[in-house]
Amino acid sequence: MAHRSEIDIRPLTGACGAEVFGVDISRPLEEKQVSAIRQALLDHNVIFFREQTLSPEQHLNFAQCFGELVANPVYTHVEGYPYIMPVIKEPHDKYVIGDTWHSDMTYMEEPPLGSLLYGREIPDYGGDTLFSNMYLAYEHLPEPLKEMIEGRRAYHSDRYLTARVQERNAGRSTRLKEDAQQKENGALHPMVRVHEETGRKCLYVNFPFTWQIEGLSREESLPLLTQLYEHAARPEFTCRFRWRNGSLAFWDNRCSMHYACNDYQGKRREMHRITIAGSRPR
Ligand code: SIN
Repeated sequence: MAHRSEIDIRPLTGACGAEVFGVDISRPLEEKQVSAIRQALLDHNVIFFREQTLSPEQHLNFAQCFGELVANPVYTHVEGYPYIMPVIKEPHDKYVIGDTWHSDMTYMEEPPLGSLLYGREIPDYGGDTLFSNMYLAYEHLPEPLKEMIEGRRAYHSDRYLTARVQERNAGRSTRLKEDAQQKENGALHPMVRVHEETGRKCLYVNFPFTWQIEGLSREESLPLLTQLYEHAARPEFTCRFRWRNGSLAFWDNRCSMHYACNDYQGKRREMHRITIAGSRPR
């Protein structure tokens, strides 16, 4: 049993995810608390805090303990807060963002280190988020598949998001910027990434953003990419988080994917997301 003032970390599954207790993240944190939280993130890929009451400023302050912030290039922000992205489903909405396995903004040259998603209004059931551990996904690939992707790069693009802006905005309260389609965001990244802090290898492709493997057409790339996506979503590599009002999830975007479950038609869900800048994948 941890001392009351100590951070207490309880893993959620054998694959990834841990709940962090014993810290009020609305208050300024001591350096040792920040390092314990950072270490928990590195150890578990995604960490969760419960019963936190955060104003937008407190959410921003907490996020800034872990790096510089980055604004989302394609989605709108909360008025007055360029670094906070609203993730909202109204009762009349049919669609949500993030309902495919993905890693955030990998179409950028320097994709984010991580994101901090705060639950402001959570339905009584439904709206869970699933996470997967991309170290495990890589480690459990058959050797011939590992050899096939080692040293190869793939092109990531925001085309999947920005095609049909008007149509997507019509069925969804999380809004794309009206001019999101004007300039494509895209970047070439290794298919096997070495995490810059842990030194571990992880699989680094995701369904909405990885467009094609370098040297192959999209059509030629899809059979292998699809096989990798299916493999990475195996339940043994995942955890599933049940939100409550005041929960916060902080994921390491470099070595995880996530999936927003759209199973709460007719109910409202409101989240705030802040994203921390990252570096070029190696
Ligand atoms: C996202 O992909 O950031 C959204 C996750 C969620 O709404 O649970």
